Amino acid sequence: MASSQELVEWERVGIELAMEAGKMMVSASGRNTNIDTKASFADLVTETDKAVEAFLFGEIGKKFPSHKTIGEESASDGSAKCVWTDAPTWIIDPIDGTMNFVHTFPFTCVSIGVTVNKKVVLGIVYSPFLDKLYTARIGCGAFCNGRPIKVRPCATFKEALLIAELGGSREEEWKKAVFKNLQSVAWISHSVRSLGSAALNTCYIAEGFADAYYEFGLHCWDMAGCSIILTEAGGVVMDTKGGPIDIMSRRFIASGTGSIAKQLSDTLPVHLELERD
Ligand code: IPD
Repeated sequence: MASSQELVEWERVGIELAMEAGKMMVSASGRNTNIDTKASFADLVTETDKAVEAFLFGEIGKKFPSHKTIGEESASDGSAKCVWTDAPTWIIDPIDGTMNFVHTFPFTCVSIGVTVNKKVVLGIVYSPFLDKLYTARIGCGAFCNGRPIKVRPCATFKEALLIAELGGSREEEWKKAVFKNLQSVAWISHSVRSLGSAALNTCYIAEGFADAYYEFGLHCWDMAGCSIILTEAGGVVMDTKGGPIDIMSRRFIASGTGSIAKQLSDTLPVHLELERD
């Protein structure tokens, strides 16, 4: 386990790097050059995703040579598989909400989670366009721009504001599953939002703006940083089937309360089994 001084230092460096990454996003915004696709025509990667990841990996390597890194772009292009050990590991999504970034829809962020012994101990999510910096260290609470944040205790599923996403696949089986799940919750809750960034969706629950979010197909870099921000704000993360969260499992429920999370898990009719990270 890391000492509390170490965590404070890692957080300080992580925040500095996230702010720099944010500047890179802002200066590239709207240029939209060199957009590639991954799993489908709706799963995008830009040159800025790659540049931000290379920058973060380079700086982390210089500052903490014994630490490991896992990042969306190097894992997706096959140059570095997700090797997750007990060593301090920085799990990074350089731009979470790349589709939004490409369209200049401001709901996008850089997301950083650090694990030790395969447990998330630090989370930093920075949205430069919304000017929101979410942070959490294990056992120390969650913050937005330095101000403590807390979930909203929503009493009943009927009163819950949910978040769901379409995800990046466009395969038939996927599309059917997404709509079946959406239909199962849409008419028994207050409503459903779809904003396009897993990390920010989860931080919005941590801040008390929404009550629960689920998605299949996420990766560890989508879940790592934001999950500790939510739990430190009093919320819960769990597997869609109701067990403990496994950030390599591609399945994610985030909620302000355990009871809404459980009801969501019990209600979803389709639980996709996907290849692990
Ligand atoms: C995506 C976003 C989106 C979610 C996708 C993710 P990316 O991350 O979090 O909200 O629906 O499943 O892949 O690709 O923009 O980093």
